[in-house]
Amino acid sequence: MSLEVQLTPRAEVTPLLEGRLCALLQAAYPQWADFWEGTSFWGSEPEWHLWLAGPGGQPVAQLGFGRRTVTLGEQVIHIAGVGGVATHPAWQGRGVGRQLLRALGQTLKAQSDVDYAFLQCREEVAPFYERSGFVRVPNPAHFLDPDEEKWVTNAGPTLVLPVRLALDDWPLEETVELRGLPW
Ligand SMILES: CC(C)(COP(=O)(O)OP(=O)(O)OC[C@H]1O[C@@H](n2cnc3c(N)ncnc32)[C@H](O)[C@@H]1OP(=O)(O)O)[C@@H](O)C(=O)NCCC(=O)NCCS
Repeated sequence: MSLEVQLTPRAEVTPLLEGRLCALLQAAYPQWADFWEGTSFWGSEPEWHLWLAGPGGQPVAQLGFGRRTVTLGEQVIHIAGVGGVATHPAWQGRGVGRQLLRALGQTLKAQSDVDYAFLQCREEVAPFYERSGFVRVPNPAHFLDPDEEKWVTNAGPTLVLPVRLALDDWPLEETVELRGLPW
C-alpha cells in the first residue's frame, strides 16, 4: 500500500492539521496522551512535518524534523533531527512507517544540505529504524532536556541515516553535541 506523502512546513500547519497530528500522536502514544493533547512535537519545534495521508486526507503516520549544525569533537556536521515518529495504531504493521522513513530519506536527499538524519529512541523501536536504513551508532548525545530543563547526556540508542556523507565519515568516538533541544 502506498499513501500520499505530505511535507508541511511547521509555519504552514493549520489548526485543523495540528489537531489531527495531535490526535494521531495521542493514539500512537496512549501513555503520553495528555502531553500530545496540546502539541504535535516534543522538544525542538520541527521545521517540517512529514506525513502520510489516508482516506479523507487524514494523517495516518507522521514525523517532525529540523536541520541543525552540531559538533562531534572537532567535527562540524549538519543533521536533520527527527522526532514524533508515529503510525496510527489502526495502520501499524502494514509497512506505513517504512514508507514514511523512505519518504524522509528522499526528502533529505533533495534538500542537499543534510549530512545525516539523526534520532534517539527507546530500545524496543531501534529495530524499526534499522529496517529502513538507519544505522545504530555508539555515540551518546548531549542536549537540553525540555522536561528537566537541564543539560543531560543520553546514551542512546542513537541512530543515523547517511544522506550527504557516508557512514564511514561519522565520528564514532564522540558525543553528539546537539547544542539545544532534542527532537
Ligand atoms: C514504531 C512505529 C512507528 C512503526 O510503524 P509501523 O507502520 O507499524 O511500521 P512498519 O509496518 O512500516 O514496519 C517496518 C518494519 O519495522 C518492523 N517494526 C515495526 N515496529 C517495530 C517495533 N516496535 N520493534 C521492532 N520492529 C518493528 C516491522 O516488523 C517491519 O519489519 P520488516 O522489514 O520485517 O517488515 C509504530 O509502531 C508506532 O507508531 N509506535 C508507537 C510510537 C513509537 O514508539 N514511535 C517511535 C518513537 S522513537
